[in-house]
Amino acid sequence: MDTSALRNGPIPVPLIAAVALVWLGCAAPTLAVNANTYPELPGPTLKLGREVWLGTCAVCHTDDFSGAPQVTDLHAWQPRIDKGKEILYTQALKGFFGPKGTQMPARGDNPKLSDQEVKAAVDYMVALVVALNSKAE
Ligand code: HEC
Repeated sequence: MDTSALRNGPIPVPLIAAVALVWLGCAAPTLAVNANTYPELPGPTLKLGREVWLGTCAVCHTDDFSGAPQVTDLHAWQPRIDKGKEILYTQALKGFFGPKGTQMPARGDNPKLSDQEVKAAVDYMVALVVALNSKAE
């Protein structure tokens, strides 16, 4: 059997590029959101929630064009918060259309998220709205 193909060659270029990308991770341009803008909040649920939220939810909830209530907009959130967490959880899990036809997709369009992850993201978003808006006083 010819084993020449199994010889160790030079390190393949894609591998070097991948390592460099990880290395430069902090300098790489952020996509939609700058994670530093949204503070870590105390407790394991909010820690998980922040990760989920940054990964899936922030793209709409920090972009006015999406029609989603923005985390900086307490007026948009207050009536929703007043409905109670259980309703917010259900709306986030199942998705819904608002009165103006804007859609909150089920699980933020990320079916891989567990119920627990979606609920943690709701918890983080509500806590974030309160935190961001109490600072602005
Ligand atoms: C594709 C855009 C988009 C993504 C991604 C998204 N949302 Fe939304 N979300 C919306 C829109 C639009 C609304 C407002 C719908 C309306 O009331 O008109 C909304 C509303 C909500 C509400 C308010 C519910 C209520 O009863 O008023 C919650 C809670 C929420 N989203 C949670 C989340 C969570 C958690 C995630 C991530 C897992 C997420 N969203 C990702 C677009 C999005």
